[in-house]
Amino acid sequence: MGIEEQGGQKAAAIAPATGKLGVMVVGLGAVATTMIAGVEAVRRGLAKPIGSLTQMGTIRLGKRTDNTSPLIKDFVPLAKLDDVAFTGWDIFEDNVYEAAAHAQVLDEKTLAQLKPFLETIKPLPAVFDQYYVKRLNGTHVKKGKNKRDLAEQVRADIQAFKKTVDRVVMIWAASTEIFIEPTAVHQSIEAFEAGLEANDIAISPSQIYAYAALSEGVPFANGAPNLTVDTPAMVELSKRNAAPICGKDFKTGQTMMKTVLAPAFKARMLGVKGWFSTNILGNRDGEVLDDPQSFKTKEESKLGSLDYIFQPELYPDLYKDLYHKIRINYYPPRGDEKEAWDNIDIFGWLGYPMQIKVNFLCRDSILAAPIALDLVLFLDLAKRTPSLRSIGIQEWLSFYLKSPQSAPGLYPEHDLFIQSMKLKNTLRHIMGADLITHLGLEYYD
Ligand SMILES: NC(=O)c1ccc[n+]([C@@H]2O[C@H](COP(=O)([O-])OP(=O)(O)OC[C@H]3O[C@@H](n4cnc5c(N)ncnc54)[C@H](O)[C@@H]3O)[C@@H](O)[C@H]2O)c1
Repeated sequence: MGIEEQGGQKAAAIAPATGKLGVMVVGLGAVATTMIAGVEAVRRGLAKPIGSLTQMGTIRLGKRTDNTSPLIKDFVPLAKLDDVAFTGWDIFEDNVYEAAAHAQVLDEKTLAQLKPFLETIKPLPAVFDQYYVKRLNGTHVKKGKNKRDLAEQVRADIQAFKKTVDRVVMIWAASTEIFIEPTAVHQSIEAFEAGLEANDIAISPSQIYAYAALSEGVPFANGAPNLTVDTPAMVELSKRNAAPICGKDFKTGQTMMKTVLAPAFKARMLGVKGWFSTNILGNRDGEVLDDPQSFKTKEESKLGSLDYIFQPELYPDLYKDLYHKIRINYYPPRGDEKEAWDNIDIFGWLGYPMQIKVNFLCRDSILAAPIALDLVLFLDLAKRTPSLRSIGIQEWLSFYLKSPQSAPGLYPEHDLFIQSMKLKNTLRHIMGADLITHLGLEYYD
């Protein structure tokens, strides 16, 4: 069913996804190159877009007895993969083929088939300062008299790209920056702009890209845990310029599992005393996270989910004393093939203890690439949807993120299945279809 057949007022008002969607990726590393190469592989029919809800997911409409479950991409007007064009920035000059080869996520045979296309995508010089990512030393970087000047240069890059495509979305898939707490400079657009002029230390490169994108009316997604658009200044700018934003940090492996398991324990009123999570990881991301200040940013993002899911203030007997510990160990031999272990100490009836062990042998970028693609396609949809484009935070995209962003005073929803329901109901809502509550009493009338 397409928008025309929906007939609803809201549905008719969504602008169609005609023409090219330009995707500007900050950081052409493992995740970004795996996404770009994957999109090209799918376009050529070499592989399937496994892990991508926008490409493979269906959405039920109406009653269970109606048997109507179109593909999401046929239900909402998403950009087609054939219409997606990529560009990006990196602190190294490698083109996407070279960067993908360096990342060693995809095999040589696959990359060789895609080489002519991947070689055409060459990074623009980046906004970078080693103060914010200690373990990297960039050579392909912009120079400017202050941070305002750098933001203007990124805006010029966006404007130039806009001339070659019809719409633009930006996504941060660059390294995790050091932990930064919001300061006065993040409280309003005016304070932020003054901070850019004054080279305020609390303004990191990711914030400069985000400011440039939002100023140009371009939606922005943040795949890393840095403080970037989760500030009052950026929320205001997002609303003012109808440039949608969402939370941060791709929810891929261990945290995805956490936000599946924790809701199950809570649903069954099982207590949790301890949750120890450790990882070994050998890619460049692992190297960057080996720096304590970047790790702190990641740790904060990974820690958040359990507290919100368990609501210890509502269930003190079950979760008040939970000890939650997270470790990430840089271990080069494993490359992108991360291994995660979780030991969960739970307790049941009358307080009797039990244990659960999870050992996830995953591939970091294989999990993250479809998430990056979906975020880009859904943010572009939000930008074309009148009821979404000017609300700023797209909470319905929490599904993809370790640190969902929500309205001030509203706790974020971390439970993966509530997030999935929220996402699908948002799609039904914007298309003028009935929401699904799972009540189901009508079947027993
Ligand atoms: N793969 C996952 O499962 C996953 C999950 C959650 C979050 N992330 C986050 O996604 C990000 C990307 O991960 P990755 O494995 O691709 O890392 P990566 O190190 O392979 O790639 C990051 C790239 O960003 C570049 N870069 C760094 N600072 C930059 C800047 N200021 N401007 C432009 N480019 C810059 C680096 O040169 C590098 O090429 C990381 O922050 C990581 O923490 C990944």
